[in-house]
Amino acid sequence: MTGPDDPALTYGRYLALDEVLGAQRPLSDEHDEHLFIVVHQVYELWFKQLLHELAHLQARLEGGHTAHALHTLKRILTILKVVVAQIDVLETMTPRQFTSFRARLDASSGFQSAQFRQLEAIVGPALFRSFVVYLEAQGYAVGAGGVQDVLLAAYRDDGEPAQVGERLVDLDEGLQEWRYRHVKMVERTIGDRPGTGGSTGVGYLRSTLFRPAFPDLWAIRGRL
Ligand code: HEM
Repeated sequence: MTGPDDPALTYGRYLALDEVLGAQRPLSDEHDEHLFIVVHQVYELWFKQLLHELAHLQARLEGGHTAHALHTLKRILTILKVVVAQIDVLETMTPRQFTSFRARLDASSGFQSAQFRQLEAIVGPALFRSFVVYLEAQGYAVGAGGVQDVLLAAYRDDGEPAQVGERLVDLDEGLQEWRYRHVKMVERTIGDRPGTGGSTGVGYLRSTLFRPAFPDLWAIRGRL
């Protein structure tokens, strides 16, 4: 077994660079396909890290650890900013450059990203449930008035639970921002063409905009 005490351990072996750097296998000879593959792979790695941090965040919330939960949220939000900014890199690829290898993608599409679907599922229902568990432990039990009344009470008290709520709104806004940037990238790259994944393309993607992960946290804004 290779471990940190193994004198033969090297940078390349520790990071499994043979596997990581051997995983870019363009299907065409077009220069831009390499960037397309690298950017998607980097995204999948960040998705993996986000899932790892989200599980940690849920545990910290359910354990009632406010400071640690806020710290993990800060890391998640920082990664999300990088993930959104990365769209700029792929936007340096012109429509013609993309068209040069697009047919090779066949029916493959980000639509099939299992990790993205997992992120959607966890951020939506599961993380919000962990937040409710956290609120209950902080003295904001959900009663007959429902979850929005509890959120209102926490926000009016303006203590730590409200801060956690605000960071969750940041997360929600960040994810919506990613969707918006992705749609614009798609629009400038393929216009009104359908997606390789079989959807109408931009039309479908537009229908996913402005859908909050935590609707209750948005619904209370007008009542504060
Ligand atoms: C030139 C670059 C890109 C184009 C033209 C593009 C195009 C599209 C299109 C048309 C769809 C709709 C589904 C379909 O019919 O295929 C889609 C969905 C998606 N794409 Fe991209 N995409 C690009 C880059 C990326 C990148 C870098 C990622 C990062 C992982 C990504 C992730 C996704 C995800 C997660 C979906 C599913 C969204 C949902 O269903 O809500 N895409 N993409």
